[in-house]
Amino acid sequence: MLRPSMLEISGLRKVFPNGVVALDGVDLVVPAGEIVGVIGRSGTGKSTLIRCVNRLEEPTAGTISLEGEDITRMRGPQLRAARRRIGMIFQQFNLLTSRTAAENVALPLEIAGVGRAERRRRAHELLDLVGLGDRGDSYPAQLSGGQKQRVGIARALASEPSLLLSDEATSALDAETTNSVLDLLRRINTELGLTVLLITHEMDVVRRACDSVALLDAGRVVEHGPLGEVVARRDSRLATGLLPQFGRVEIGEHEEAREVVVFDDELQLSDGERVEARSTERIGDRRVTRALVVSPKGVTV
Ligand SMILES: Nc1ncnc2c1ncn2[C@@H]1O[C@H](COP(=O)(O)OP(=O)(O)OP(=O)(O)O)[C@@H](O)[C@H]1O
Ligand SMILES: [Mg+2]
Repeated sequence: MLRPSMLEISGLRKVFPNGVVALDGVDLVVPAGEIVGVIGRSGTGKSTLIRCVNRLEEPTAGTISLEGEDITRMRGPQLRAARRRIGMIFQQFNLLTSRTAAENVALPLEIAGVGRAERRRRAHELLDLVGLGDRGDSYPAQLSGGQKQRVGIARALASEPSLLLSDEATSALDAETTNSVLDLLRRINTELGLTVLLITHEMDVVRRACDSVALLDAGRVVEHGPLGEVVARRDSRLATGLLPQFGRVEIGEHEEAREVVVFDDELQLSDGERVEARSTERIGDRRVTRALVVSPKGVTV
């Protein structure tokens, strides 16, 4: 059965006053409970897209439905209520340096008028959830980048959003920390059923965290689909980026090499062939093997 959509973006255009067309008719569906990645080169409109979803930018045209309600038409209290259903995490974490981790997490609750004792209880519960139960009294300057982003995630969860927006949230982190933050997002997605729209320029991030992916190019979605489906497409820019990589291999003068991609199955070799390099990964719901198969020159297989 198809999942109901959390977010439906249709014909979204954003033209800035200086005439730059940042979004040129974006259509995108984010099913409830999924992590959807939007990938694209610098300047393709990724941040503008996310800023339109939380209405930090006013769209020029198009609709953005959050759980069936068009948020582009909302104003005042209705818009504020919709915004509370949307959490956001940032590349530079955006924590207040003069506040402790727990006070940062409690900020959205303070704004919502929640009492002090309840704020404290919730902040510690959320810090526990992100693995920082013992760092509530630390200031941002006393935390590593990965820990700061965990505080950012806890703060984003404080108003119990149904949708989390992430704009390059791991771009300032090293590879290992990136993976641990992505794994945390995955865990929250599973445990809390939180839907995530994740913006990135790195295919590794998509591969590790997302259920489906959309490729944004010059303000338009040019390709999209579930990871397991996209990776099997021929001549697909997304598939090329998603496929497992293997290192460089020297091929002998009397040998021929061919690349083979196998889905959900083991690699079968013909007589005289051998695998020179192989890499297998789980991508979406499939197991994908990429192999470099070598055979002596002149042998047809
Ligand atoms: N406030 C603005 N006024 C005018 N043009 C803008 C404004 N904000 C963004 N743009 C332009 O809109 C286009 C899309 O910008 P955007 O920040 O959405 O790209 P991006 O995909 O997030 O890039 P990056 O990967 O570098 O973060 C760019 O050409 C950018 O220069
Ligand atoms: Mg950006």
